[in-house]
Formats: sequence, structure tokens, C-alpha cells
Amino acid sequence: MTREELKAAATSMLERAYCPYSHFPVGAALECADGSVFTGCNIENAGYSPTICAERTAVAKAVSEGRRDFVRIAVAGRSEDFCVPCGVCRQVLQEFAPDMEVICLNGSGEELALPLKALLPYGFDRSLLPDAGKP
Ligand code: THU
Repeated sequence: MTREELKAAATSMLERAYCPYSHFPVGAALECADGSVFTGCNIENAGYSPTICAERTAVAKAVSEGRRDFVRIAVAGRSEDFCVPCGVCRQVLQEFAPDMEVICLNGSGEELALPLKALLPYGFDRSLLPDAGKP
């Protein structure tokens, strides 16, 4: 998928967003090393805290289908500002692909592209867990 197609896939997911509380739709399209793409939208909840962001919807779809090797993600919003991933989503993306690219879109389709590492410097990861990987 081309970069423009990935951005279009994220933007098309704005239609699927379930956001009756914030009225802030977000769409995401996550590309893996094998070229597969998993899309997502934000899914809100009356309990507020169960809300899941578009990026994590896409990650859950990908990981549950056996893909973890993310290359880039496009995140679309409708506001003037670029739709940057929240802190929780940055952490979740880092778990699987610390070197991936994040393409943030605004409502005009303009992009701000950054390495995930620029969005999450000094991120906490498994290397900081002394017993990681041990049974
Ligand atoms: N949201 C996302 O889907 N992705 C982000 O990274 C930023 C925030 C959603 C969560 C909530 O449904 C709405 O945007 C307002 O915060």
C-alpha cells in the first residue's frame, strides 16, 4: 500500500468512529512488514475509561491476527491540529515496534510524520525489567 493509500485508509475509518461523548472521531491504519494493513477507530463508552483509541483498536486487530512487526501507522482526525497518538497508544506501539513511523494527519489531510522514538523518548520497555523473558 502506498503512503497515500495508507493515509486514505485511516481517513476512511473516521466514518466508523463511535464517539458520542467527545465528538472527536479518530481513524487509524497500521501497516506491517509483510504489507498487511489493519484499520481502527476510536470506540467510546458511557463509562469513559473503557474507551479505546483508534490506534489501539488497530493494534489489537493486528496482534490477534498474528502480526507484530509494525512499520508505520497513519492517524487521522478532523481538527485543524495534527492528530497525534495519546501517551497510552505511544506506549502500546512501542511494545511491538519502537522503530516505526507515525504519520499524523489533520482535517485537511496534511501530515506530520515522526519516528515513534521522537514521540516517546526514554520509553519504558522490557529491557528495563530484569526478569523479562524468564519463566
Ligand atoms: N483518541 C484516539 O482515538 N487516539 C488518540 O491517540 C487520541 C485520542 C480518541 C479517544 C477519544 O475517543 C477521543 O479521541 C477524544 O479523546
